[in-house]
Amino acid sequence: MIKRVATGIPGLDRLMEGGLVENSVTLLTGETGTGKTIFASQYIYGGLLNNEPGMFITLEETPEDIKNDAAIFGWDFDKFEKKGLFKIIYHDPVQVNNIDSVIIGELNTLKAKRLVIDSTSLVALNIENPAQIRRRLFHIISSIKRNRTTAIVTSEIPEGSKALSRFGVEEFVVDGVVVLHYLGIGEVSARSLTIRKMRRTSHGNDVYPLEIAKSGLVVKKSEI
Ligand SMILES: Nc1ncnc2c1ncn2[C@@H]1O[C@H](COP(=O)(O)OP(=O)(O)O)[C@@H](O)[C@H]1O
Ligand SMILES: [Mg+2]
Repeated sequence: MIKRVATGIPGLDRLMEGGLVENSVTLLTGETGTGKTIFASQYIYGGLLNNEPGMFITLEETPEDIKNDAAIFGWDFDKFEKKGLFKIIYHDPVQVNNIDSVIIGELNTLKAKRLVIDSTSLVALNIENPAQIRRRLFHIISSIKRNRTTAIVTSEIPEGSKALSRFGVEEFVVDGVVVLHYLGIGEVSARSLTIRKMRRTSHGNDVYPLEIAKSGLVVKKSEI
């Protein structure tokens, strides 16, 4: 019997047999502005409401930015931080050149049931050698998998690219891949979501409209 972890995104869990596979790593990918950080915050917050400890490692935005954006949707991370259920860790990849070792250090002290790394794209900052980038990402994702945590790692797809991730390696080491899309040409459902891979799961294969509602992301039924 596979245990499932609810994503906290209304409409999404029913597309994946009830949620993410417990102790799995899911890559959440998409171009800039597609809602990856909102999705990641909503995932952690959904766990907190259930008393599941969560950890958010941010390499892009400051903790204040993440929390201020979350507050718009009514998510009060400070409350759970005070209770000791939530931890947000910021590293500036420009300042830290061995970011993978730093993240792995955090993971080794991890007691969180839910983890987010937003985003893995910056892990490769200042590294030009593709083999070294792959090694670092592989190293981080393998470390997550050794922990008893259910993780979402984000990766930015370069604008207009058909690739699934920044470095074309992330999708191979993870258990699942969820892609967020944005058409941005004024259509009713300009935003959508697809599930590209989900190990041990019979998942929906359509393009699902995605809405940013007042209380966060909502996945709608496929229009097809
Ligand atoms: N309160 C909101 N209502 C509707 N859309 C929003 C709201 N807040 C943010 N957005 C949309 O979400 C985008 C940012 O989402 P974000 O998760 O930061 O994207 P990503 O991390 O993929 O770059 C914004 O560019 C905007 O289009
Ligand atoms: Mg983001």
